[in-house]
Amino acid sequence: MLSKEMLEYVATLVEKSLGIQYARENHYQLEKRMDEVAAAFGMRGTEELFHTLRDRTNSKAMNALLDASTNNETSFFRDRAVFDAFAGELLGNPEFAGNTQNYIRIWSAASSTGQEAYSLAILLRQWQLQKPNRNYEIVVTDFSERVLQQAKEGKYSDLEVQRGLTPELLSKHFEKNTTAPGYWMVRPELKRQMSFRKVNLLEDWSDIGTFHIVFCRNVLIYQNMENKRKVIGRLINTILPDGYLVLGAAETLIGLSEKFEIRRLGKAVYYQKLPKG
Ligand SMILES: C[S@@+](CC[C@H](N)C(=O)[O-])C[C@H]1O[C@@H](n2cnc3c(N)ncnc32)[C@H](O)[C@@H]1O
Repeated sequence: MLSKEMLEYVATLVEKSLGIQYARENHYQLEKRMDEVAAAFGMRGTEELFHTLRDRTNSKAMNALLDASTNNETSFFRDRAVFDAFAGELLGNPEFAGNTQNYIRIWSAASSTGQEAYSLAILLRQWQLQKPNRNYEIVVTDFSERVLQQAKEGKYSDLEVQRGLTPELLSKHFEKNTTAPGYWMVRPELKRQMSFRKVNLLEDWSDIGTFHIVFCRNVLIYQNMENKRKVIGRLINTILPDGYLVLGAAETLIGLSEKFEIRRLGKAVYYQKLPKG
């Protein structure tokens, strides 16, 4: 058993690295995760892990603990209204983000296992097929290398594909995995315009470029106010004039930034960057 002070120390370490907060009443969860990481690394117990974290002697164990602290809940077309608005109001609008060149660049930040990004790819592929000169790129990022690896592979269980995909979309864009029964693989053409990379939103990602639209959903909810402001303040610079930011259903920009205008697109809320934002 770790002392209160030890758990406090580790909770602060996680918060500083990733912004994820463990309230004191949830320190037992942190200890449980430490237990799992210690076992995975063949350590004698959480005390040994604590010492390697404090002395910074095992960066892999540190990363594993941070990874285990993330909540990776996601599904295809999560919050359907957001995707209906994307397809209907934005892709259907020739003025979208001043997009005269038929090219759209999108960032799925904190994408988890990739369902959000592939849902967008399904819609963009449809949009592209309507006119041959249309093109797009989706940059898919997350802090966790574990979830990013799954996103990159595009491998989903029966249960995962049942969450949000219609049978038509499933057969059109996925094929059964021949070596792992009960799993599906994204068809290669859907992945073609996607790139994957590890990004910690609290660290430096200034080389990521600019986007017509950034999806940063269900990640800021775990951050304190200071981190939320910091991340939003930097996200603004990656969004092209008139471009959009999309947050999770329970998240808001109110009190965080005045550089966006709230736009109700269908039943979804999008934040459009102000021309001087
Ligand atoms: C609940 S999932 C959201 C997935 C998807 N955006 C959605 O809304 O369905 C939150 C993701 O944020 C990632 N995450 C947490 N803190 C992060 C940070 N500081 N930088 C980048 N990703 C982070 C987690 O690894 C996790 O995969």
